[in-house]
This record gives sequence, structure tokens and C-alpha cells, in this order.
Amino acid sequence: MARRPLVAGNWKMNGDRAGVDRLVRGILAGLAQGGGVEVMVCPSYVHIPQVAELTRGTPLAVGAQDLSEYDSGAYTGEVSGAMLAEFGCGSVIVGHSERRHLFGESDDRVAEKFAAALRHGLTPVLCVGETLEERRAGSTEQVIARQLDAVIGHVGVPALAGAVIAYEPVWAIGTGQTATPDQAQAVHAFIRERIGGRDPGLAGEVRILYGGSVKPDNAGSLFGMADIDGGLIGGASLDADAFLAIVRSAGQE
Ligand code: 13P
Repeated sequence: MARRPLVAGNWKMNGDRAGVDRLVRGILAGLAQGGGVEVMVCPSYVHIPQVAELTRGTPLAVGAQDLSEYDSGAYTGEVSGAMLAEFGCGSVIVGHSERRHLFGESDDRVAEKFAAALRHGLTPVLCVGETLEERRAGSTEQVIARQLDAVIGHVGVPALAGAVIAYEPVWAIGTGQTATPDQAQAVHAFIRERIGGRDPGLAGEVRILYGGSVKPDNAGSLFGMADIDGGLIGGASLDADAFLAIVRSAGQE
């Protein structure tokens, strides 16, 4: 069964009202209606209502970059899945390496966030990926397996049917150093096999995105790989033309 490609922009902590307005309008102007590619942007929390308003009735979906593992209550500074859903998000990134490494999110906490997303009807985009030290030590697969198994152990394999996985090697994020298509494909195939060991049908359906210095000039070769179903784009998603070029590359595969 063919998997529909997904290209998602992770804007991280960037943008202001005027810039967000320009960026969304720029993307919408170049987005083909009914194209074969699903397209999403993930603004900062405060920009979500603005982007939801601008994209209402368009093919551009809105997601969030994180959520709380809790549903409501005395958790100062946190934002719940219910809040995100009410404000127009259909998806949410969980376990981004910047959350894991800069803000100390453990595998268990990521698993709880994944479960919270599902509870509120949001599609979790689960990020996994190894650091440069882990890759050099030959432990890439071990790290990815640990990160995946923490989630599967918490919610069960069938729950992955409602999710997207993103392989983001930490050493490729924001560094300009992309994984080669073969390096990325090898890890994507490993992820699919690991899920396939528990549910072969699901493994064939779940979308696995690549993220880490995806640009218009390398997107096509990455998206051409058998197990790469699109991308999670950081820096290049802040430029409408670059983002649209990446979306078009996904549509050609
Ligand atoms: P860059 O595309 O800037 O490397 O960021 C990738 C990323 O972290 C997307 O979530």
C-alpha cells in the first residue's frame, strides 16, 4: 500500500506576527490544491491561533512542537493536548531531540507525551535519533530501538497506527550535515523492521519521515529512498520558497 508523503515544517522558536503572516501566505500561494503530499507547519504555541486562522479551509495543516503529558491542572507553563486540539492542531511533535537533550526529556516522559497526544485525538510525530557519539560508537540501532520501545511499551504497537515517526539524527540537525540517503534509509528500514516484528501490516503503513538539514537540493535524493516517506524540516521551513521546493520533491517520489 502506498504511503502518502508528509512534509512538516518545525519552526522551532522562530517568528513574529508579521513574519508568520508572510510565511503562511507564501506557502499557501504555492501549495497545489489536492496535491499528493500532506503538508503541515508547526509554529510556536503562541502563533498557533494565528496560523490556524490563516490556514482554515486550506490544505495546510497545523501542528504543535510539544505538549504536556498531563491533561490539566497545576502545571505552570505547560500546554495540554486538549488545548492544542481546540486551537486547530491535528498533530504534535513529541520527543524532538532538542526537548530530549536541552530540556532533559527522558524516554519515559516522551512515551507519556505520546499517550497524551493520542488521548486528545492528536497525531503524535515521534522523533528518534542518535547523537554523533552514539553513531561513532556503533550504537545507532540500539538507541533507536530503546527510544521506540519506550513508547511501544507504554501504549502498545497498535497505537502506532495513529502516529508518524521521524528519524532525526542529532548530528544532522541544524548542522548542514545531512545523513546520506543510504545512511537514512538504513535506519528507516531498521525502524520499519522493528515494528514489523510485532505487526507486519502496521509496519507497511506507518510513515517514517527524515529530518536533519533537509534542503531543496538534497530532499529529492532522500525522499527517493524506499522507506523515507517525507521530511521534518527545520531551517528550510522558515523560507516559503525553500519549503515549497521540498514539498514538490516529495510529490515527485
Ligand atoms: P534542520 O532542518 O534545521 O536541520 O532541523 C531539523 C529538525 O530538527 C526538524 O525537527
